[in-house]
Amino acid sequence: MSDNAPRMPDISHALIDTLERNHLLELPAQLRERVHAIERLEEWLDDAAEADPLRARARSLLMRLTAVQRQLCGSIRADIRKGGGTQALRRWSPGRDIDAVEGYDHLDALLGEVFAFDEPNEAISPLEPGMVFYQPTPVRHIFDLVQRAVVTRDDVFIDLGSGLGHVPMLASILTGAQCVGIEREPVYARLAQQTAASLQLDRLTFIAQDVRDADLSQGTVFYLYTPFTGDILRTVLDALRNESARRPVRIVTFGPCAGVIAEEAWLQPAGPCEANRITVFYPVTP
Ligand SMILES: C[S@@+](CC[C@H](N)C(=O)[O-])C[C@H]1O[C@@H](n2cnc3c(N)ncnc32)[C@H](O)[C@@H]1O
Repeated sequence: MSDNAPRMPDISHALIDTLERNHLLELPAQLRERVHAIERLEEWLDDAAEADPLRARARSLLMRLTAVQRQLCGSIRADIRKGGGTQALRRWSPGRDIDAVEGYDHLDALLGEVFAFDEPNEAISPLEPGMVFYQPTPVRHIFDLVQRAVVTRDDVFIDLGSGLGHVPMLASILTGAQCVGIEREPVYARLAQQTAASLQLDRLTFIAQDVRDADLSQGTVFYLYTPFTGDILRTVLDALRNESARRPVRIVTFGPCAGVIAEEAWLQPAGPCEANRITVFYPVTP
């Protein structure tokens, strides 16, 4: 099909029938299937003609499924506030499914609603050369991160360039570690801190600062989802090397910075080093 061909709705009468009859979609555990159904229905409603007689059925089905999602996310939020977030979220650990999809999936939809970030409505300051724009780590990789880097309550986990803060937030809930997000954009840092406060997560702090000026002296696990490149990355890697001379640290990466960091003679990866997977680096023992 050419790029100019009209996009035909790919949801049929029969499919709406099937979704309507599939009451399993309303079970909280059917998260992946429900999120997929919601996305299909939203797409279909965006494309369908106003007069299409299927619209009312599609809309009511969508409302039913989004209500299940809302209730599930509300109960997870309540568990987090009561200090039971670890159990409430660990059940969604993706296990071996981590490579099943590319990009974002049902876990991002779940956590997006649980964290309920406010959308920034102020202007975001322009990035300096070498700084990378905000893009969140897919949630399934954050589960992988805390497991592969063996983050525990005794750690101080620092996300270098934390954006809206999904990573320190989920790491804090899953592990109980003291978590810090350092983010140059004050709007992101403020929204992240507001979300942490709304979930009553008190072992979590967001600092609006350039990482090059930040105090890294408490960190034991440093995370970089390719936040910067070139000279900025060089400066920060030199600072991390100094920290590693003072105490045991792990450096954890996601995205293309893994390849650059793999060139550092003072670090070695635990396992294969891939841009689209979490890589944990340990300082080489002299
Ligand atoms: C690719 S995003 C990663 C966001 C977050 N760590 C995550 O994984 O969900 C990179 C973030 O780093 C921030 N950033 C870029 N350069 C920075 C710097 N020098 N100091 C602090 N934050 C920086 C950007 O504003 C952006 O939010």
